[in-house]
Amino acid sequence: MQYQWYPGHMTKAKRQMQEDIKLVDLVIELVDARIPISSHNPDIDTLGRQKSRMVLLNKADLADEAKNQAWCDYYKKQGIFAVRLDARNRGGMKDVQSVIQDACREKIERNLKRGIINRPVRAMVAGIPNVGKSTFINSFAGKACAKTGNKPGVTKGKQWIRLNKQVELLDTPGILWPKFENQIIGMHLAYIGSIRDEIVNREELAFELLKELLERYPGLLADRFALSAAQTPLEALEQVAKNRNCLKKGGELDTEKAAAMLLEEFRSGKLGRITMEEPRDRADVSMDDQ
Ligand code: G4P
Repeated sequence: MQYQWYPGHMTKAKRQMQEDIKLVDLVIELVDARIPISSHNPDIDTLGRQKSRMVLLNKADLADEAKNQAWCDYYKKQGIFAVRLDARNRGGMKDVQSVIQDACREKIERNLKRGIINRPVRAMVAGIPNVGKSTFINSFAGKACAKTGNKPGVTKGKQWIRLNKQVELLDTPGILWPKFENQIIGMHLAYIGSIRDEIVNREELAFELLKELLERYPGLLADRFALSAAQTPLEALEQVAKNRNCLKKGGELDTEKAAAMLLEEFRSGKLGRITMEEPRDRADVSMDDQ
């Protein structure tokens, strides 16, 4: 299956992010915990080269908890600070605060050594569309902190959210576009709804999703649709249609309706907490060095 996606303001957003990134010390990247490889845009590795980095595994509430843990361990081994998160839940922000402090420790200490006191570390949030950037900023800002900005000495038009004495967050996130480096990435982004459904063949997509789910989470499918792991993806889609009584007028199975239903249940988490990419899949899914 070939997916292409041409969003309108791609170039403008990238240029904006290139400008904004110059203003910060720390880049907080949000990825989707269900597909941390495909929802990571490798451009950020280049853009954020001189910066401290941290990753938020967002929508962790929809992802498999054991795999969330595996990803946190993986990032830690890479020397990247990572937190799993449900950005809608303000309770999780304390953890983020303390990891931001850790991620910026070097910078804070360097400033102190140079005699620079009272200069907060500046951070920005970045990620592909719909990964939860605005939700995160709102939860975070709601918990903290007065907005600053348009004061003398502050870059005109930039709003900064003061988290505490040591850290300020740029209130507009950096938007990165997903990179369709190969078909698996395109498909995984389509599973979570990052590609508009009009340009995707839902039946084909549901077929591919079932193929992967039969390998990764056979028990989950069996429970929900009375499906056996021995079934082929096509039989599985028909079984979903039967199980959900998706029938066309003449009584024929409506697999298109079943596909839409399956995708909706996957995306909303009704199917269960599912992660489609694990650290060990990195070589298969992506060639870049995340
Ligand atoms: P963005 O700025 O990166 O584009 O993303 P945004 O915050 O707008 O979030 C996109 C959708 O994802 C929102 O749903 C938001 O509620 C949801 N969301 C964000 N963080 C989390 C999370 O940690 N867990 C879950 N389960 N959902 C999260 P929405 O506005 O209702 O849109 P939609 O759900 O109709 O697509």
